[in-house]
Amino acid sequence: MTERIYLLPLWLRIWHWINALLIITLGITGTSIHFASPGALLVEFSLAVRIHNFAGIALAILYAGFVVANAISGNWWQYVPKPPGILQRCWKQTQFYCWGVFKGEQEPFPVTKEVNFNALQAITYWFIMYAVLPVTVLTGLIFLYPQWAPDKLFGVDGLLPVAVLHYLSAGVIILFAIAHIYLGTMGKTVTSLFKTMITGWHEH
Ligand code: HEM
Repeated sequence: MTERIYLLPLWLRIWHWINALLIITLGITGTSIHFASPGALLVEFSLAVRIHNFAGIALAILYAGFVVANAISGNWWQYVPKPPGILQRCWKQTQFYCWGVFKGEQEPFPVTKEVNFNALQAITYWFIMYAVLPVTVLTGLIFLYPQWAPDKLFGVDGLLPVAVLHYLSAGVIILFAIAHIYLGTMGKTVTSLFKTMITGWHEH
């Protein structure tokens, strides 16, 4: 029997899809800027810079909105990894993603209205949204306003560590997005989690 739960409020779904669009835009233009060449890899350099700056500021504002709305709505609690037995729950979930799902096994920790994320999702979403993304946004803003950067850091020009952190944290987000889209196919059917993220209704 199929059970339906109304899980995701409209603001969260709107945030998610604008966020995804901005991250894809930033990924494409950021790659074009980093690997700029006269033959233009993806987007012409000066156009890529203008789009990247605009999308970066939009992402910074959207991120601030996410943190505030997540706090006010109480949705932040989903993101907190809950310790008792968390390693065992992560291992069970990994086994499900690696082979259980291909053998038609049941999802080990089905979604409820109270607990939306399994242990792996809580750890990953917490890490990306509250540890990695703020670093990318902050270092991006410092790049845009280099007068904020320290003159020297660790004996080198202050902008160099900022550049390295921006590049590495952005790389982590792109790797996350690829894995995230793949794991998004592991719902009741291949498309059901994507539908949940559009309609707010979860089915299992
Ligand atoms: C085209 C790109 C993307 C697609 C197709 C996509 C798809 C999905 C799907 C299907 C879900 C629901 C499944 C679940 O609960 O895990 C979801 C949730 C989520 N996604 Fe994405 N996603 C994309 C990009 C991103 C990016 C770039 C980020 C962050 C940098 C992100 C962060 C999240 C978060 C935090 C949730 C949980 C939201 C909540 O319930 O509080 N997504 N996404």
